[in-house]
Amino acid sequence: MDTRVCVAIIGCGRIAQNAHLPALTLMEDVRIKYVCDIIPEKAEAAVKKYDNVEIAITDYKVALADPEVDAVFVLTPNYAHYTVTMDSLRAGKHVMCEKPITVNYPLSVEMAEEARKQGKLLSIGVCNRYNRSVELLEEMNRKGEFGNIYHVYCSFRACRSIPGLGGDFTNKAQSGGGVLIDWGIHFLDLILYVLGGAKPKNVTCDAYCEMAKDMKSYKYKSMWAEDTKNVENGVNDVDDFVSGYIRTDKASISFNGAWAENIDEGNGMYIDFLGDKKGARLTYGGQFTVFDGQTLERIRTEHEIPGQHAAEDRGFIDAVRTGAKDRNYIDNILESMKLLDALYASSEAKKEVVL
Ligand SMILES: NC(=O)c1ccc[n+]([C@@H]2O[C@H](COP(=O)([O-])OP(=O)(O)OC[C@H]3O[C@@H](n4cnc5c(N)ncnc54)[C@H](O)[C@@H]3O)[C@@H](O)[C@H]2O)c1
Repeated sequence: MDTRVCVAIIGCGRIAQNAHLPALTLMEDVRIKYVCDIIPEKAEAAVKKYDNVEIAITDYKVALADPEVDAVFVLTPNYAHYTVTMDSLRAGKHVMCEKPITVNYPLSVEMAEEARKQGKLLSIGVCNRYNRSVELLEEMNRKGEFGNIYHVYCSFRACRSIPGLGGDFTNKAQSGGGVLIDWGIHFLDLILYVLGGAKPKNVTCDAYCEMAKDMKSYKYKSMWAEDTKNVENGVNDVDDFVSGYIRTDKASISFNGAWAENIDEGNGMYIDFLGDKKGARLTYGGQFTVFDGQTLERIRTEHEIPGQHAAEDRGFIDAVRTGAKDRNYIDNILESMKLLDALYASSEAKKEVVL
């Protein structure tokens, strides 16, 4: 009997090719029966590339109708997360859905309710929860090593990084927003996680669409998600810069984020945890530095950081096997989606929003 967990990959774009397929194809207890993309060549390319990827399809419902399939990976653009996930849960499949959960909080709640109703796992790709540095910071905070973390500052700023201008990423109806929902979800979710499940209480935020409001005159060196760009007839109505302040039941958080800004001063991707005993600066995706308030020593960590997507996929597959919810289970991520909605609402209303 084949005891492997049988999965289907839905959406064979960048995150499938760069993260999930390389990780899942190395797992001996996983069978990748289907790869699906509405662009047939993308699914076919995955079958060609990996010996252990079996069938390319263009309609995900083929995989959902197959009783052998235990779980699906929803790796489509944000606007499709809701429909594909809901269909998959109703077909009795466990789901790993990429971040953000979907384009807004109310639909995210519906997805969580459906997972509960169907008794299936629904995990969300906030992969930083599986980053080794984030795990260590969470543990240090849990053990009280920072003393009281009273404030966290985070910066997710780049000089030129608007993805696929005019395509899925910059069309609010399809993406749910810009840099805040795309990058901010990773930073803010990992902060709430390190703080031990902090609950936002009230927020204030300003989101701007400035740098490419005239798409044709936007100057850039290269553009990720270039294949989806449509500067002639597409839409760009999302935030390329965002600034905000969050009060939680634990620390307060301030942040600035930019997909593009006219500043080019090196690494703008970091998080500062300010404790009364110690503080830590996490270089996003990398190591962190601890500053000890008593000895005035500065210690740079040098631990191994295994691939966070691989660790996340391992966590999900193990959860499918055991039935236990993994740390990215949707109920643990809803607070982050609620926070994003509140931040956007504050920006629109130009006033503080209470959660
Ligand atoms: N966790 C991370 O660090 C991370 C990084 C990048 C992207 N993402 C998320 O992953 C998702 C995909 O991003 P991407 O950069 O890979 O985008 P992409 O555009 O490269 O890939 C998406 C693919 O989905 C396909 N698709 C669309 N609708 C489909 C459907 N109904 N059925 C099957 N295939 C369909 C598209 O044709 C495309 O090939 C987004 O939600 C994004 O936010 C997460």
